[in-house]
Amino acid sequence: MKNSISRRNFFLKTAGAGTGLFIFPSLLGNPFQKAGRGITPLIITSHTNETGKNAMEAGWEILKAGGTAVDAVEKAANTIEVDPEDTSVGYGGLPNEKGVVQLDSSFMDGKTYSAGAVGCLENIKTPSSVARKVMEHTDHVLLVGQGALEFARAWGFKEENLLTEKARKIWLRWKEELSPNDDWGVPEHLQGLTEKEAYWHDFPDIENHYGTTNVLAIDVNGNVAGCTTTSGLSFKLNGRVGDSPIIGAGLYVDNEIGAAGATGRGEDVIKSCASYYMVLKMKEGRTPQQACEDALHMIIDRYRKVNPRFFPSEKFVAINKAGDLGCATMKGKRNPQMSVRIESGFTKYEGTIAFPEAL
Ligand code: GLY
Repeated sequence: MKNSISRRNFFLKTAGAGTGLFIFPSLLGNPFQKAGRGITPLIITSHTNETGKNAMEAGWEILKAGGTAVDAVEKAANTIEVDPEDTSVGYGGLPNEKGVVQLDSSFMDGKTYSAGAVGCLENIKTPSSVARKVMEHTDHVLLVGQGALEFARAWGFKEENLLTEKARKIWLRWKEELSPNDDWGVPEHLQGLTEKEAYWHDFPDIENHYGTTNVLAIDVNGNVAGCTTTSGLSFKLNGRVGDSPIIGAGLYVDNEIGAAGATGRGEDVIKSCASYYMVLKMKEGRTPQQACEDALHMIIDRYRKVNPRFFPSEKFVAINKAGDLGCATMKGKRNPQMSVRIESGFTKYEGTIAFPEAL
């Protein structure tokens, strides 16, 4: 074994690294919490890079024209999914251990209380749109693997190779560094650097080794919709499905209350039904910000009973019907911000780090 980065530690060390390429100044006060206003459309995403901003503008064009939250969410999610530079979502996402890009996505429409999702979908750049088709054109909620692909084909989605050259090189490098003990060993020319520098040396511009995006919106009629979409945990086992296509885990929408979405390690989010938990908290009267923090505390309370050193990496986002916002993350390295488009323009919402002592 040339070094001691375990598969588990690798994911924990790199989750969310490099997010937040640019920071807009925080607004003074909280412009999102104004008493007594009517329905004000809004759209948010957990993505905070330039593509996240473009996604917000694309979704806003639809909301501004009186379009539905569902259409706005799909447009915004597609904008992020087709970005070849983004290694955490859609086209260009990092592949599984076999070098195959397998995408997960879910969609919910609060107005009709409908949901659709796809897991391990290959060769389709926009899994969120396939999830929407499942939601609107079947009586099922979740299609996976070959079945999801056949469904997408039937709807005329174009099949394409999703493995970009950038993602392929990163995957090859990962394979090269595997050892029989399932650890990573650095190539000879990189020995002597720290573990993290060694891995990043050849790919300094990579944003995420695993990530996801959530898009949540409210339209002029007060209807709420949401989508979560991802390429999932990089180098995951073939067939692994994360939290993103699991309704209640990676996404939940309730038209009477609001919506919530999760990014981070899917296994933690599935076991905690985190998005459903956040929406229930908002139903109890917690603000979206409090609901995000409550969910993080719930996870850490449970896990730390088993392993006091447990160090999760989730980032949660939430909105309520009144247009209040929430965003919280477990770790300081993961950026506690989200992108927001409201009538007055684009901005970044500054959330909280729930466990700063864990930095
Ligand atoms: N949250 C994305 C995943 O774990 O697949």
